[in-house]
Amino acid sequence: MSQDGSKQTVGDVMSRPVVTASSGETVAKAAERMRERHVGSVVVVDGDLPVGILTERDLVRLSARGADASSDRVGDWMTPDPDSVPSDADVAAAFASLAERGYRHIPVVDDKQLVGLVSMRDLMRIAAIQPADSIATDVPRGLEGVVVAETTIGDVRGLEGFYHYRQYNAVELAEKRTLEDVWYLLFEGALPTLAERQRFEAEVAPLREIPTEVADALPEIARLGADAPPLDMLRTTVSLMSATLGFRPSLDVDAPELRSQALRVCAVVPTLLMAIYRLQRGEQPIAPSPELPYAANYLFMLDGQRPDPEHARAIEQYLISTIDHGFNASTFTARVITSTGADLGAAVVGAIGALSGPLHGGAPSRALAMLDAIGTPDRADSYLREQVSSGQRLMGFGHRVYKTDDPRSTMLRGVAERLGGEKTEFAKLVESTAVQVLAELKPGRKLYTNVEFYAGVVMDTCGLPREMFTPTFAASRMIGWCAHVLEQAADNRLIRPSADYVGPPPPQPVPEL
Ligand code: ACO
Repeated sequence: MSQDGSKQTVGDVMSRPVVTASSGETVAKAAERMRERHVGSVVVVDGDLPVGILTERDLVRLSARGADASSDRVGDWMTPDPDSVPSDADVAAAFASLAERGYRHIPVVDDKQLVGLVSMRDLMRIAAIQPADSIATDVPRGLEGVVVAETTIGDVRGLEGFYHYRQYNAVELAEKRTLEDVWYLLFEGALPTLAERQRFEAEVAPLREIPTEVADALPEIARLGADAPPLDMLRTTVSLMSATLGFRPSLDVDAPELRSQALRVCAVVPTLLMAIYRLQRGEQPIAPSPELPYAANYLFMLDGQRPDPEHARAIEQYLISTIDHGFNASTFTARVITSTGADLGAAVVGAIGALSGPLHGGAPSRALAMLDAIGTPDRADSYLREQVSSGQRLMGFGHRVYKTDDPRSTMLRGVAERLGGEKTEFAKLVESTAVQVLAELKPGRKLYTNVEFYAGVVMDTCGLPREMFTPTFAASRMIGWCAHVLEQAADNRLIRPSADYVGPPPPQPVPEL
C-alpha cells in the first residue's frame, strides 16, 4: 500500500529511463555505459522491444573466461528473452516473481514497449515505506536474514549474486588486484597506491617466519596429530603462537597493537599450514621466500619449487575471492569471541573451528571426492539423483544467502576453464546435471553451485593436495576474520543473544536420592 492507502504498481516504483544496448554493439561499449550511468545491467533492445538483458554477472563470466570485451558482442553474452512485467502489475506480485526466480532486474513492458526497469533497489524502496509493525522479536532458526551488526568491511547480496569488499566488487578485485592489495584494503580501508603496496609487502613478508618457540614444538605437534586434518593442527599452533607472543585480551590492547597482532597471524598462517603438512609426512618444512608474493610463496612452501605463474595467479584469485563473505558462521564466531574482550588468538582459533565444518568450509575436498565417485560422465545423472533421493546433500551446492549463482563459483569456473584439463570439463558436466537434478528433486529451494565446487577443481589443478583445500580457505579467510576482529574491537558491545526455553516447565522439585 502506498501512504495514501492505494495499491502500489510497478509503474510507481520502476526506474526510467532504462539504460539500453543493442545486441550488435561490443560488450566493452555497453559496460562503459553501465559504469557511467551507475547501473548493474542494460536491457538489450530491438527498437523498443527488449530482447535480452546484460548484467554485471555476465561481465564477470566474460572476463573470467579471458574473452575480449572490445570485440565480443552484447548478443553473445546477454540472457535472451528476459521475463518482463507490465507497469500496472501489483508490486507485491512483481516482488514475488523477482524473489522466486532470483532475478536482479526485470524489464517493464507495456504494449511491447520498454517503459522501465524494476530492480531489487526499487523494491527495497518499497520495503522502506511499508509499516514496521510486523517486526517480530523472535528470529528465524539459524538466524537467517537477521542483521546483528553494522560493518564497513563488505556484504553479500544473495538475490543479486553479488558480494563486495568495502565499496568494490570482490570478483573485480580478484581479477585486477593482488592478494596483498586486498589485504591492505580490508585492514586500512582503502586500496594501496603503488608506494603503499611496496611498503605493505615489505612489512608483511618478514612476518611469515614461524616464531622459534612454535617452530621447535611443531615436529612434536605434527607427530601427535599425524593423522589429524592439518586444519585441526593449525588451531593448536595458532593458539600456541598467540600464547608465546603474549597476545593480551583485546579489551586491554590499543588499535595499533591489535593490528600488528593481526598482521602477524595472517602472514604466518600459510607457513604454519605448509610446515604442518610436510612434517605430517616426515618431510622438513620449507622456509618462506620473502621475494615471492603471498600466493606464489604459499605454493613454493609445498614442495620448494617456484610455482608456474599461471598456477600462482589462479590460487591468488581463489584466495582473494574467499577473504571475506558477510556474516558467515566463522566470521560471526570471531566477532562473538572478540566481543567478550578475549585476545585475537582466541577469536581466530574459534573461527577456524567453525570453518572446519562441512556445511561451511569443509566441502571442497568432498566435492572433488564426489567427482571421483561419479567417475564417468554417463554416471552423473543416476549418481546425483540417487544421492539427493536418499537425502544426501550434494557438496558444493546450495547456499544460505545465495539463491542464484554464487559469483565466486562463476569466477572460479572461469579460472578452471583458463587452466584447462579434463577435470574441468567433467566438473562442468556434473555441475549442470546437479543443478538440473536439484531443481527437479528439490523444487523451489533455489540450489545452485557454491564456491566450494570449483574451488576443489582449481586447487587440485594447481597441485594442492586435498587435505590442504579447507586449510587454504582458512589462510585467506584469516585476513577477513582479522579485519572483523579489528572492527569489532574498535566499537565493541558484548554479543549476547537469548533463546526460547522449550523444555519441561521449571521449577520442578529436584528429586532427592
Ligand atoms: N544438496 C541437496 N539438497 C540440499 C542441498 C544440497 N547441497 N543444500 C540444501 N538442500 C536442501 C535441503 O535438504 C533442504 O531440503 P528440504 O526442504 O527438503 O528439507 C533445503 O534444500 C533447504 O536446506 P537448508 O539446510 O535449510 O538450507 P541452508 O540455508 O541451511 O543450507 C548449506 C546452506 C548448509 C550450505 C546447504 O546448502 C548445504 O548443506 N550444502 C552442501 C554443503 C556445502 O556445499 N557447503 C559449502 C557452503 S559454501 C561456504 O560455506 C563457503
